[in-house]
Amino acid sequence: MAFDAEAVRREFPILSRQVNGKPLVYLDSAASAQKPRAVIEAMTHAMEYSYANVHRGLHTLANETTDAYEAARRAVAGFINAAETEIVFTKGATEAINLVASGLGASLQAGDEIVLSQMEHHANIVPWHFLRERKGVVLKWVPVLDDGRLDVAAYQDLLGPRTRVVALSHMSNVLGTVNDAKALTQMARAAGALVLFDGCQAIVHQPVDVKDIGADFYVFSGHKLYGPTGIGVLYGKAERLAALPPYQGGGEMIATVSKDAITYADPPHRFEAGTPAILEAIGLGAAIQWLTAQDRSAIAAHEQRLYAHVRDRVAGLNWLRVIGEAPGKGAILSFTVEGAHAHDVAQILDRYGVAVRAGTHCAEPLMRRFGVTSSARASFALYNTLDEADAFVDALTKTQAFFA
Ligand code: ALA
Repeated sequence: MAFDAEAVRREFPILSRQVNGKPLVYLDSAASAQKPRAVIEAMTHAMEYSYANVHRGLHTLANETTDAYEAARRAVAGFINAAETEIVFTKGATEAINLVASGLGASLQAGDEIVLSQMEHHANIVPWHFLRERKGVVLKWVPVLDDGRLDVAAYQDLLGPRTRVVALSHMSNVLGTVNDAKALTQMARAAGALVLFDGCQAIVHQPVDVKDIGADFYVFSGHKLYGPTGIGVLYGKAERLAALPPYQGGGEMIATVSKDAITYADPPHRFEAGTPAILEAIGLGAAIQWLTAQDRSAIAAHEQRLYAHVRDRVAGLNWLRVIGEAPGKGAILSFTVEGAHAHDVAQILDRYGVAVRAGTHCAEPLMRRFGVTSSARASFALYNTLDEADAFVDALTKTQAFFA
């Protein structure tokens, strides 16, 4: 049965608003998705009815909130087929990658190699650059092919005896390319390297089974997954988390503290120093529960239909260049308009109520790879409709007229 986007839209209060006198057409979900009422209500309910700090109290509200926080961890674990103890809550995917890079960095030597790709988001570049600067590790870059696919043959060639870590995007936030995480993991494993996937985009659009992929670490953020900001997830295989040193020090991450010594809590608590993002974790749990109750394959088909429709309609526009055409790609259209800066395109589209992102998308190496300084990007989510897809292309055509 076709996915009923109209019915789902009604669960997202913000989607009924107008922008610049026009119905909002929100095509910026790859930057941050809108929130269903289920998420808003779960967070509001916690604040209005059952809120206290977690893992500290002995009173009813503390116990209830601790249960809700840990239930969110269980929801995340179930969502990606991990054990609860393998789920660390962070403030976002960025913090999760920093945590892993910093922890692994402690045992890396100058000359050790870290393999990244040209399609990485800065969140999966900069923490590794820190290790280049501080430890003398060498960053190796997997090229991206003209159509936006990862150059897997080049990847194989880059893997060698000094490769310690491979850190790759599961789905590009610019190109929409979906990488074969399992195959890439197996290749890295054969070279003896640890593997981390940035799953921020992929987790939204396809089921992710971390056991099946086999990577050591998998990270994603809550806010692209229809959940709140301020919460992210680090999945780490139990033995990998156990081997990582703590990232931040403070309450809740210790076993004992004295004047001369400390011992640390076991994962995941070892990596959750201080009061965590309690409400945000509860919101993420609600988002996952909400999404899991939907027909995810019907959603994927719906998003693909929207993308195919837009791709067909822009095919004949000789002033528009699409960046990223990998087979099986996700519903993300990155593009440039001849003679126009992407920022101007986005601002004019906004006059028509259409929200797209424009800029480097925190992916400067990828921009350079495609010889552009920026692009505009329309990203499609489960709540977008074919009418919105048409409204976007119509507004884009009017926008181009400003530059013709
Ligand atoms: N990483 C987010 C994006 O791609 C912010 O827009």
